[in-house]
Amino acid sequence: MNQFTDKRIDHKDLAVEAHGLVKVFGDNRAVDGVDLNVRAGSIYGVLGPNGAGKTTTIRMLATLLKADAGSAKIFGYDVAKDPQIVRQLIGVTGQYASVDESLSATENLVIFSRLLGLSRAESKRKAKELLEEFGLTEAAKRPLKHFSGGMRRRLDLAASLIAQPPLIFLDEPTTGLDPRTRNQMWDTIRRLVKEGSTVLLTTQYLQEADELADRIAVIDHGRVVAEGTVNDLKESVGTSSLHLSIQNEQSLSNARLIVERVLNVQSAVTAEGGKITAPMADADRVTDLLITLREAGIKLEELSVQKPTLDEVFLSITGQNAASHTPVKKEELA
Ligand SMILES: Nc1ncnc2c1ncn2[C@@H]1O[C@H](COP(=O)(O)OP(=O)(O)O)[C@@H](O)[C@H]1O
Ligand SMILES: [Mg+2]
Repeated sequence: MNQFTDKRIDHKDLAVEAHGLVKVFGDNRAVDGVDLNVRAGSIYGVLGPNGAGKTTTIRMLATLLKADAGSAKIFGYDVAKDPQIVRQLIGVTGQYASVDESLSATENLVIFSRLLGLSRAESKRKAKELLEEFGLTEAAKRPLKHFSGGMRRRLDLAASLIAQPPLIFLDEPTTGLDPRTRNQMWDTIRRLVKEGSTVLLTTQYLQEADELADRIAVIDHGRVVAEGTVNDLKESVGTSSLHLSIQNEQSLSNARLIVERVLNVQSAVTAEGGKITAPMADADRVTDLLITLREAGIKLEELSVQKPTLDEVFLSITGQNAASHTPVKKEELA
């Protein structure tokens, strides 16, 4: 997949257009030639493990860090040549909300609104509205220094809603949040986009990218190792597979024959411990399989049908922890 040959991309519509970004720290190529195209009005997910280079990439795009090589444009403005203009077009979470730790959440939001040029009345109204939306009304009067991490994160995002810049960078917005708060964040992120912003978010959570992002770049060791829609990425891994284990290992070869016959495949694989794995095009066949196995007196220990998950995509692309996901071994054993 090469995003630069993707004909659907109209360069006028790009919120982010980065070519060959590089950042080197000592002898560590933290970002090693990253290309990114983010269409305006979309949610773009940059997915990668700790240390992959996500934050460093964002910092270069947000004019907070100078790239050692490559170039980046935000809505057509070069981050190196027009940093002032770029800064007016972007929001980076982490920079808001904590104007003053000893002031309350409301006071912080009001000050922030005033700094953005809202009237006193408008600022108060906005602060109240946002605190309600983020479930922070109870805590509104509390000084910020007594806020939990999750509350801070919510307040931070609330503050970015005041300015509502055209492009918002969210660097791991939900890392460490409880599920409820995370779902709230997701809703807010969707709302930001509905109201016209573009969001570039980084995440370590595949589920989050799956849930939110229109397109995803998988980044590993400073490089984009895959790019596309969630479906593109899932399809790149293949169809579902059936995993079953049987109670009595003596019936293994018989069970395998049944699996192959019922699923109409030649490539079922058996392994020690009574395990059978087979590709499966049609999940509905499981019923037939179960009936046939029972008729043959074969007792099951466990059965699962797995659609490729983003986890599998990620693992198969980055090769990390690939031992649990081994199409190669199938051929060896077959
Ligand atoms: N200011 C810095 N000085 C030296 N090394 C850094 C600095 N910032 C990041 N790194 C290194 O660059 C790599 C990428 O880091 P980072 O962009 O923070 O990754 P991520 O956000 O994906 O976890 C890591 O190896 C990290 O240790
Ligand atoms: Mg980071």
